[in-house]
Amino acid sequence: MDLNETLKTIFERKSVRNFIDGNISYTKLELIVKAGMAAPSAVDKRPWEFIIIKDKNILKELAEVLPYAKMAEFAQAGIVVCGDINRQHNGKNSSYWVQDCSAATENILLAVESLGYGAVWTALFPYPDRVKPVVEILNLPNHIIPLNFIPIGIPSGIDLPKDKFNPKQIHREKW
Ligand SMILES: Cc1cc2nc3c(=O)[nH]c(=O)nc-3n(C[C@H](O)[C@H](O)[C@H](O)COP(=O)(O)O)c2cc1C
Repeated sequence: MDLNETLKTIFERKSVRNFIDGNISYTKLELIVKAGMAAPSAVDKRPWEFIIIKDKNILKELAEVLPYAKMAEFAQAGIVVCGDINRQHNGKNSSYWVQDCSAATENILLAVESLGYGAVWTALFPYPDRVKPVVEILNLPNHIIPLNFIPIGIPSGIDLPKDKFNPKQIHREKW
């Protein structure tokens, strides 16, 4: 089947954990975040905040405290996607921010792929032992919770997309 550019990007996206040297401009990173901000959110609250990191020392510091984000040491940049619990739909005790920020994250991953870069979603929330050090390193205020950390870099080419299509997971009309 002929695929349009959007579908090609969706099917080509993969977690990239192996990077080579290079540079990603701040302008490109801002464009990537702009794609994140284009995501849907409950009642259009847009409770997201994004920390763009290019400083190699901070990337290394994050890699050191996060057991599943070691690749960040070799990434060109990183984005921490955070939620403002005060700005989400239904108030600070709801969990809409997680869904809203997850939608933004997928947009970011697709934008990264479309630009020829590579990235991986590394989990922070709901693990207190990952959230806490990131809050401290990035000086996040109390109402801002980091959902994930996305190292971004120039892909080495060894990470490949998977075919995950499974017709057994599709149900027609009713279960
Ligand atoms: C909520 C969530 C948390 C994840 N956490 C991590 C993580 O901490 N470290 C990591 O290397 N990959 C992490 N991943 C990436 C998954 O391992 C990856 O998406 C999955 O293996 C499928 O591979 P693909 O992204 O290449 O399609 C996470 C993905 C999601 C959606």
